[in-house]
Amino acid sequence: MRRLFPVTYQTAEAGPGPAPGADGADREWSLAELASAYAYPERDAGGAGVWLRANMVSTLDGAAQHDGRSQPISSAADMRIFGTLRALADVVVVGAETVRREGYRPARARAEFAALREAAGQGPAPAIAVVSAGLELDFSLPLFTSPLVPTLILTGAAAAPDRIAAAEKAGARVVIAGDGAGVDPARAVRALAGLGHTRLLTEGGPRLLGQLTAAGVLDELCLTVSPMLTAGDAQRIAGGPPVAVPRRFQLVSLLEEEGFLFSRYRQV
Ligand SMILES: NC(=O)c1ccc[n+]([C@@H]2O[C@H](COP(=O)([O-])OP(=O)(O)OC[C@H]3O[C@@H](n4cnc5c(N)ncnc54)[C@H](OP(=O)(O)O)[C@@H]3O)[C@@H](O)[C@H]2O)c1
Repeated sequence: MRRLFPVTYQTAEAGPGPAPGADGADREWSLAELASAYAYPERDAGGAGVWLRANMVSTLDGAAQHDGRSQPISSAADMRIFGTLRALADVVVVGAETVRREGYRPARARAEFAALREAAGQGPAPAIAVVSAGLELDFSLPLFTSPLVPTLILTGAAAAPDRIAAAEKAGARVVIAGDGAGVDPARAVRALAGLGHTRLLTEGGPRLLGQLTAAGVLDELCLTVSPMLTAGDAQRIAGGPPVAVPRRFQLVSLLEEEGFLFSRYRQV
């Protein structure tokens, strides 16, 4: 892993044999270094302020999955960053289809991040918050029955009462964040903040990310560009209706390992 942007002494000067331990050197970064590189912005003096970041992976030709999953286009370094971003988050917001297709499990407590989370006033692992209108989810799965912290379900006021009851019976906490069947993204962010979750991470999928983008609530995108071409008609990282005016983001960080680019963009 090496840092390409912001440019460091080593990446600017190039040449073989960068100083060991420096950002520009091509070596595996520790999880502590990754956590530092991806730290959430400091909160307001009053402790307020919500930050929503997304973490997504895309191929060179824009595919966000292969054979219905993101694993084939990921890498070991991508998974280390994926795990680090989870470890920094209060809550992981994810669309129901990603939960169904990727077989989501509860986030686990990782010893490597225990001290960091404790110092940040966080529990042992982030909660998973599933966004769903239909609530056609298998509530007998460990994601709902045996997480370290109760799994949240974000849904609309018109959600089927029997499905809400099934979710709650399994141990999930249902949060209403919309007047109809669907969830209003801005209201969902406010609801999570109201529960004390201010360091938000979304792992997609594309249909959910498209709505978060359209609602203008996405502060940051951590995008892995995978050095692969898949062709076909896979989804891009964000779907749904186009926004009226393209949302502008600013590059704040770019890391590289084995041809994979790990970018971090902030909404301008
Ligand atoms: N490349 C990556 O980084 C990445 C990341 C994540 C996922 N993926 C891939 O993306 C695919 C799945 O993504 P997807 O875009 O099809 O689905 P998704 O965004 O994960 O989930 C869509 C579902 O979320 C619920 N939902 C979304 N917006 C909602 C709203 N406003 N109100 C209420 N519910 C809402 C609905 O659930 P209900 O149907 O239950 O109502 C909807 O069917 C998978 O193949 C996965 O592998 C890739």
